[in-house]
Amino acid sequence: MENIHLNITKAEQFLNNGAISAYEPQVKSAMELLEKGTGAGNDFLGWLHLPSSITPDHLADLKATAQVLRDNCEVVVVAGIGGSYLGARAVIESLSNSFGWLKKEQDNPIIIYAGNNIGEDYLAELTDYLKDKKFGVINISKSGTTTETALAFRLLKKQCEEQRGKDMARKVIVAITDAKKGAARITADKEGYKSFIIPDNVGGRFSVLTPVGLLPIATAGYDIDQLVQGACDMEELTAIEKPFTENPAAIYAAIRNLLYANGKKIEILVNYQPKLHYMMEWWKQLYGESEGKDGKGIFPASVDFSTDLHSMGQWIQEGERTIFETVISVESPNKHMVVPSDEENLDGLNFLAGKRVDEVNKMAELGTQLAHVDGEVPNLRISVPTLNEYYIGQLIYFFEKACGISGYLLGVNPFNQPGVEAYKKNMFALLGKPGYEEESKKIQARL
Ligand code: PA5
Repeated sequence: MENIHLNITKAEQFLNNGAISAYEPQVKSAMELLEKGTGAGNDFLGWLHLPSSITPDHLADLKATAQVLRDNCEVVVVAGIGGSYLGARAVIESLSNSFGWLKKEQDNPIIIYAGNNIGEDYLAELTDYLKDKKFGVINISKSGTTTETALAFRLLKKQCEEQRGKDMARKVIVAITDAKKGAARITADKEGYKSFIIPDNVGGRFSVLTPVGLLPIATAGYDIDQLVQGACDMEELTAIEKPFTENPAAIYAAIRNLLYANGKKIEILVNYQPKLHYMMEWWKQLYGESEGKDGKGIFPASVDFSTDLHSMGQWIQEGERTIFETVISVESPNKHMVVPSDEENLDGLNFLAGKRVDEVNKMAELGTQLAHVDGEVPNLRISVPTLNEYYIGQLIYFFEKACGISGYLLGVNPFNQPGVEAYKKNMFALLGKPGYEEESKKIQARL
C-alpha cells in the first residue's frame, strides 16, 4: 500500500541551505512534549494515539447504529458546529458523488447539515425540505450547550417527533456528547436516545476519529474500518522514533514554522478537486484555532483551483509576498473521462482530444506551481494516491500530528481556544440569557 507523500523541494529553496536540518532539535523537543504529555494543554492529548486504540467492538457499535439510521431514514441531518461538524463533512464530501445531494444514491441516505449557523432562512428552508421526508438526526455537541446546534436540534426534534411519532423518533435520533454534562446529555438520557461519548481529552477540532466523525461517515455509507486503518498507519509513520527526514508531519511542521519566521504569515491550502472543499474548511479550523493566539500564528486560508485561479489567482501571483501554498494533489481520480474530438473544432479544443480531463487538470496544477514559485510563493505538495477512506484517514492524522508539533514549535498551547468565548459572552448578554445581567449592563453602555 502506498502512502500520502509530502514534497518540499519547491518551498525549501526559499530557505537558507540546511535550515530544516538545523531545526531538527527544536522539532524533536516539540515531539517529546507531545509524546511525554509535558506541554501546555496536555489534558487534550487523547487524539495522539486514538487511531491505534480504537477497538473492533467500538467500530461494530458505530456501524450497527449507522445501519439503524440507514434502514429507517432517507435523509439524516447531522447537527453540529466547528469541531463537531467539519470533520464529518470533510470526509463525506471528499468521498461522495459531486451531485449525490441532488438524489438519493442507492441505499445511502442523503446527509445534510444543520446547527452550524443561525440563518433563519436556512432553518426555515430545512424544515420545509424535511416536511415529506423520513428523516433522522445525529445531534453532536461536546459541551451540549452550543447555541447554534441546540437551536437547530430543538426544531429538528419537534419536527421528527411530529412527523414520525415519538417511538420512531427515539430510534432515529442519536446523540454524541459528553458522558455526564450538558443539555444534549440530559435530553438523550431522558428520551432514551442511543448515544456515544466524546472523550474528555479530545478537543472538538481533533475529534473526527471519535464518534463525532465516525458515526456520520458510516451512516453515509463509507468504510470507517479503512479510515481508521489509514490514520493508524500514519500514526506509525509519524511516530517519534522515526528519523526526522522520513517523518512527514515533523517536516511539514518544521517548514511552515521556518517560512513563518521568514515573513510568510499566510498559508493557503490548495486543492484541484472540488470535493476537497470541506477538507480545507476542516484544516482551517484545526490550524486556525490551534495556532492563532498570543498575537501569533500563521493565518490559514484556502482556495479551490482551478476555480479560484480566476478570482484569487491575481493576488497570489502578484500581491503582498507574505504567503506560501500547500497543495493537496490527488494522483488518480476515481473516474475516467477523455476529451472528445470534434469535427468542426469551433472551440479550438481539438489539441486536447484524446487526453484525460485529469491530464488537463494536472497541467493546470504544474503550470500554476511554476508560476507561483516564480512569483516567490513557496509551494509544498501533499500527494494523495486517490480519494478513498484509507488515504483520507492518513491525511487526517498527518495534519493533526503536524498541528500538535507545529503549535509547540510556535510556542503556544495548541489545544485550547479561549478566544472563541468572546463573541458568545456578548451574544448571550445581548439576548438576555440568565446569568449575563452584569455583562448586559456593560454592553448596553457601549451601544
Ligand atoms: O474545536 C472546538 O472546540 C470548537 O470548534 C467546538 O467543536 C465547537 O464550538 C462546537 O462545540 P460543541 O461540540 O461543544 O458544541
